[in-house]
Amino acid sequence: MEEQQGGRPISHSRVTLSRIMTAVDVNLYGTVHGGVLMKFVDDVAGAAAARHSGGTAVTAAIDEIVFLEPVRVGDLVHAYAQVNWTGNSSMEVGVKLAAERWDAVGATPIPVATAYLVFVAVDVAGNPRRVPPVLPEDAADQRRFKEALIRRDHRLARRRAIQRARAEHHPAID
Ligand SMILES: CC(C)(COP(=O)(O)OP(=O)(O)OC[C@H]1O[C@@H](n2cnc3c(N)ncnc32)[C@H](O)[C@@H]1OP(=O)(O)O)[C@@H](O)C(=O)NCCC(=O)NCCS
Repeated sequence: MEEQQGGRPISHSRVTLSRIMTAVDVNLYGTVHGGVLMKFVDDVAGAAAARHSGGTAVTAAIDEIVFLEPVRVGDLVHAYAQVNWTGNSSMEVGVKLAAERWDAVGATPIPVATAYLVFVAVDVAGNPRRVPPVLPEDAADQRRFKEALIRRDHRLARRRAIQRARAEHHPAID
């Protein structure tokens, strides 16, 4: 993949994984367990982060995961991931899951979940290492890049606010 301005285009990181859900994936209600889908999300996001960073990257945080529709046994679920934003060593990865219903083969896959995760690229000792900047390629990439920055600002502001509140009200708790 061609590199520009010392960075990597977002398309370099794009990954799709697909799998058919089976009876071992279900919860007590008979639909696919949220934890199964979360692992699927983490797997595909990790592949995108590794591709962008050219090596190992670990999950630092799962910012937001939304389940839109239940997934059923037999559904073919596609997981799409790409790096939306990069910092120094961290990356935000966006994931979409879409299901082809087992009883509606050939129909357009329906969105079933979305998620945003933060990965940090690490060296062999597990220390953060620098990642190349990600280069948005079109208007949709630009929008995702800007929205990732909003999520990062909110995440950092929330963390600071919680630390302040703990220091004020519970000084003995770390
Ligand atoms: C993620 C990890 C490597 C960060 O290490 P650290 O020493 O805290 O790193 P730093 O404080 O120097 O931060 C490094 C980067 O990670 C980001 N980061 C660290 N913790 C974060 C969090 N909870 N949420 C979002 N970003 C985070 C920082 O913002 C920084 O980003 P930048 O380099 O782009 O500015 C470390 O916490 C870790 O190894 N965690 C366990 C990961 C793991 O086991 N995951 C599950 C299996 S893959």
